[in-house]
Amino acid sequence: MSSKLQAVRGMHDILPDQTPLWRNVERILTAELEGSGFSEIRLPIVERTELFRRSIGEVTDIVEKEMYTFQDKSGESLTLRPEGTAGCVRACIEHGLLRAGQLRLWYLGPMFRHERPQKGRYRQFHQLGVEAYGMPGPDIDAELILLNRRWWRRLGVETELELQINSLGTLEERRAYRDDLVAYFTTYRDLLDPDSQRRLHTNPLRILDSKNPEMQGLIEGAPKLLDYLGEDSRAHFRRFTELLETAGVPYRVNPRLVRGLDYYCLTVFEWVTESLGAQGTVCAGGRYDTLVEQLGGRPTPAVGFALGMERLIALLEGSHLARREPPHFYLIRVGAEAERAGVRVAERLRERFPALRLQLHCGGGSFKSQFKKADRSGALYALIIGDEEAARGQVAVKPLRRPGEQQTLTWEELLRFVQSQRLLQGE
Ligand code: HAM
Repeated sequence: MSSKLQAVRGMHDILPDQTPLWRNVERILTAELEGSGFSEIRLPIVERTELFRRSIGEVTDIVEKEMYTFQDKSGESLTLRPEGTAGCVRACIEHGLLRAGQLRLWYLGPMFRHERPQKGRYRQFHQLGVEAYGMPGPDIDAELILLNRRWWRRLGVETELELQINSLGTLEERRAYRDDLVAYFTTYRDLLDPDSQRRLHTNPLRILDSKNPEMQGLIEGAPKLLDYLGEDSRAHFRRFTELLETAGVPYRVNPRLVRGLDYYCLTVFEWVTESLGAQGTVCAGGRYDTLVEQLGGRPTPAVGFALGMERLIALLEGSHLARREPPHFYLIRVGAEAERAGVRVAERLRERFPALRLQLHCGGGSFKSQFKKADRSGALYALIIGDEEAARGQVAVKPLRRPGEQQTLTWEELLRFVQSQRLLQGE
């Protein structure tokens, strides 16, 4: 026997009993986005490697060790996208989308990072990303947070998520801070773990992000970036928090929130839950006012975030949104004439009632075995056609999950019956 093939480690199938939850969640999230003035953009999964190097940053974990990079047949270095912001900016510049001034976009799809897989951390995962261009003030930062809160409310997870915020200031402010931070950690160099020692001169802000318990005391005592912000950055942050307060959104300022990608400035935020263990950041983002110019576009302020779909879905396990809608009708047909009549009845019903969920039995079998399948499908009613019904132009209707007796109906009566049952929303 040949050996069974398995999916690549960290890359998961989303099985039929999981897809109803995914689709229901996606429907709720994207309806909210479209209703708030965001348009969908669909981006390639593969981009030139250089795009990620120039945007995410050379000395980030993602670019240093997590990218799926390969040479294609023409020798070009390509990478499976580890995130969506870089590709989105590339597309906006390439197609002149930013000429109009303001733009609000969303995208949904798989991302790839070669991380060590564990619960909530995968090598292929899905992000719903949102990006807003051309708006420099904190009003749009707050608008994104309010969009997030509407999502959590609609999904019933609002109480499980804490909003953490911080400001990373401007590049110049971060430079001054960085010097002091390096000086501080250098004093305690012997206490730094190997990861932090490595980061000391490449990306010292990321030391603040360390999860190593032995490093926590040292990190607590480090200088705080918020103390290095100039008046404009402070004002931006203050107005942002005021807007959150006006809207009644609770938040916590986390001075250690630095994010793992280089393009951020000013506002950064994460929605974090305690319910998922170590991988508790469900949704994260911030401002990236210099990235568009850095990638060759005209200077354009920008802000966005990405929601980790697997983590949100994990929070929703057991939710009513996981329910698959069973068919209204399961059509049983036994006999040559009945098979043909069954197709006619099914197609006419489907055409007449586009929202009707009707499963047509295929694969033959006795009445008994077909009834079993009808029952297993969860259908509300079985429609039954034997050769006798077929000859008379009739259909028997048997309630499976509704009160009432089996009855035999003509085509006209069946139409009236379907209508009278009020099964169909929007009919
Ligand atoms: P990020 O923080 O790298 O930001 O990822 C955003 C979210 O994606 C995380 O909070 C998490 O929920 C999810 N995520 C990341 N890596 C994994 C993984 N290996 N497995 C499962 N879920 C994961 C970005 O990607 C930025 N592009 C967000 C952004 C958009 N900033 C501005 N615009």
